Amino acid sequence: MDFDPARFITAAKAELRKKTDVKSAFAKCRDATRREVEAIRKTHDAGQTVIPEIAYEAVRNGVVSDKDLANIRKRGCVIVRGVFDPSQARDWNAEIGEYIDQNDYFTRAKEKAGLDKYFSDLSDGRPQIFGLYWSRPQVMARQAESMAVTKRFLNRLYDIDAPMGPEFDPDNDYAYADRTRRRQPGDTTLGLSPHMDSGSYERWCDPAYQAIYAPIFNGALETFDPWKAAYRTQTREFASPAVASMFRTFQGWTALTSQGPGDGSLSLIPLANSIGYFLLRALQDDVAEDDLCGAQPGRALGTSPEWHADILDGLISIPTVHPGDTVWWLPDVIHSVANEHLGQDYANVIYIGSSPVCTKNAAYVGKQAKAFMSGKSAPDFAAEDYEVDFEGRATIDDLTELGRAQMGLT
Ligand SMILES: [Fe+2]
Repeated sequence: MDFDPARFITAAKAELRKKTDVKSAFAKCRDATRREVEAIRKTHDAGQTVIPEIAYEAVRNGVVSDKDLANIRKRGCVIVRGVFDPSQARDWNAEIGEYIDQNDYFTRAKEKAGLDKYFSDLSDGRPQIFGLYWSRPQVMARQAESMAVTKRFLNRLYDIDAPMGPEFDPDNDYAYADRTRRRQPGDTTLGLSPHMDSGSYERWCDPAYQAIYAPIFNGALETFDPWKAAYRTQTREFASPAVASMFRTFQGWTALTSQGPGDGSLSLIPLANSIGYFLLRALQDDVAEDDLCGAQPGRALGTSPEWHADILDGLISIPTVHPGDTVWWLPDVIHSVANEHLGQDYANVIYIGSSPVCTKNAAYVGKQAKAFMSGKSAPDFAAEDYEVDFEGRATIDDLTELGRAQMGLT
């Protein structure tokens, strides 16, 4: 029988509605959300920072202040500055550019255009996200000690206690090979409307997600702790090329160029626990029985002004980041990419999230290591396999001891 999300959604909604008075739970949540959004707007419009920023030095020395920690916990996102030396990040940026040119990526992308609809708009523009996973700079950035230290800090923000033992190992991370973005000034092809990743309708229908969000669904929103890791590695997402099958404590990227407001970069709603608003909104009477405000299987969980007007005003751009700075956000945090890059310079990043050691991630790294050895695209992504015969691709000899462990190759 064909998979029928409408049936799942209708059944899940009926069950969830039995748990609490969803109307009053949402009214309470909406009021609290509006207050938070108003506070974000006020601070942001006054020119003050809302998105927490800390220095890598403080992370490395274990001296991030209690105030900063509390702020990160509230905001669900953080900029860690200076994880890499700016000159290192600039060199990597140049090296990826050479890797692309020397291996004639653009011609190959055109040849593949007919094979992959992702590149269907190639005729009117160069790709801005490159299906490259194994350039030397990407591999070097992933396996860097400073990156490992940063991820350890981020992973430890979670409470890993869970009924079956620790949900994950916060001190050891697997590599998750993702792509690289090189967004040119004026580009209009990359916009992403506000969304969250890691599942859409699953957040209501999947048993592990129902356990994670139980306080919300049971009407005790104030007891929901977005930093509680229990069940987070046990969610099962609808398989799709648009969805990561690795569990990530944080999504993130490393800046290779300076970029900020107006540069076609990232905006976030800096609220760690805004998920309650989205979950309860979809259970209200004005949403069709088989609909969750538009949530589609195999896609990111989108937002729309029609359903989520109370919260979208809280979407603010990251401040300007510089080469070597990193940006991180929780899997439940809404984010978007501006439709147009209005700035003067390329906005380039390497996507590197934080994906700690756990059973779910161990299953993926085995497949990923095979792809690495042959230069194929990472298993979560379209099988473009550009790098199979690319000159200068990273090989196992480029991996440090830490790099090998992160690839599951020990
Ligand atoms: Fe996203």
